[in-house]
Amino acid sequence: MHNRQVVKVLTLDDFDLKGKTVFLRVDMNCPIDPQTREISGTKRIEEAIETLQSLKESKVVIGSHQGRVGNSEYTGMDKHAKVLEKLMGREIKYVEDTIGEAAQDAIKNLKDGEILLLDNLRLCAEENYEFTPENAAKTIMVSRLSKLFDLCVLDSFPSAHRSHPSIVGFAQVLPACAGRIVEREVRNLNEIMTVAKAPHVIILGGSKIPDRLEAIKLLIQNGRADHVLLTGLIGNVFMRAQARIKSPLGIKREDEVVAKAHSLIGEYPDVFATPVDIAIDREGQRVEMDVREMGKGDKILDLGPKTVEYYSKLIAGAGTVFISGPAGFFEKENFSYGTKALLNAVANSMATTIVSGGHLTTALKQQGLADKINHVSTAGGALVLYLTGEKLPMIKALEDAVIKYKSK
Ligand code: 3PG
Repeated sequence: MHNRQVVKVLTLDDFDLKGKTVFLRVDMNCPIDPQTREISGTKRIEEAIETLQSLKESKVVIGSHQGRVGNSEYTGMDKHAKVLEKLMGREIKYVEDTIGEAAQDAIKNLKDGEILLLDNLRLCAEENYEFTPENAAKTIMVSRLSKLFDLCVLDSFPSAHRSHPSIVGFAQVLPACAGRIVEREVRNLNEIMTVAKAPHVIILGGSKIPDRLEAIKLLIQNGRADHVLLTGLIGNVFMRAQARIKSPLGIKREDEVVAKAHSLIGEYPDVFATPVDIAIDREGQRVEMDVREMGKGDKILDLGPKTVEYYSKLIAGAGTVFISGPAGFFEKENFSYGTKALLNAVANSMATTIVSGGHLTTALKQQGLADKINHVSTAGGALVLYLTGEKLPMIKALEDAVIKYKSK
């Protein structure tokens, strides 16, 4: 691979943590059941525990986001506090505030060994915008809260591609280091980058379409994608661009994203693979068909066997395979076939393998395949962007902190 990133960051082992008030940025952005509004997968909360254990002699203030303003997964963090409390078997303090007086008082009242979870950081308008690190340091969030902290620990690898105040701002004004998740991700990815070889096969599903389109272009331009095998909603966007799906998909900014997919296919005609056959639901039954046989209103819920066979051949010939996002409605047994079959093909290939995202991590675990994968990460979009060779804002903030901290 070109543009190898060898990253050096400070870790928790570089600091005396006893009695310190620490801001810990984690990513507890979890799937939320649309019906019950409860957390339906707790993997990212479980992952936060290792760093919390390393901070057991500090006063810890956790900040995280959940969902995006206006989407169905946007909620407060009260549920997360309860899950974390249950998982750790100890009290987790929670304040329904982010940067106001209530939050500041709760931080000032913390004792050594206590943990406080702030409310959804995206409640604070500033956390919904991207800033340069210098401007992020000037936000009200960072200027108010940083006075109360001795150290900033960045551990939200799944949001490392966002230059939000909590991710890049605190590190400008406080000593900063990586938490255990970021430390592990950086170490494993550094190692993988040194052995990864062509051909690079990228299998992409997922629903954050504009992010995916941008990443695909960078992956190809930077020599990280010889074949892009598309599944899920992004696959549908490309099939619409190929005029193989006739009816509108009903997604946000559809004309714009379909036009982008169309121009990518034109620019790189030999790179993309899209599904040949798919599965839909007919009165509760799985029905498989050629993409061209789909009727108006039919919703693609999975890949069909011909597509799995076609993709599996490309995976078998790969030097490096990266898979991100489920291939269908994997939570429903009837439509989990494609996701499971592709994961099997990845696990059994001779390539260096990386599996990314919460859904696939869960599916891997269920199939007992996690040990056969070189690197498994709950990060989705951030990891895709990391693999393009672009420097992620959080990683850059941590690298800058090495220079600042060491030169003191
Ligand atoms: C993710 O789940 O990919 C991260 O939490 C980032 O979320 P975002 O795309 O809403 O910034």
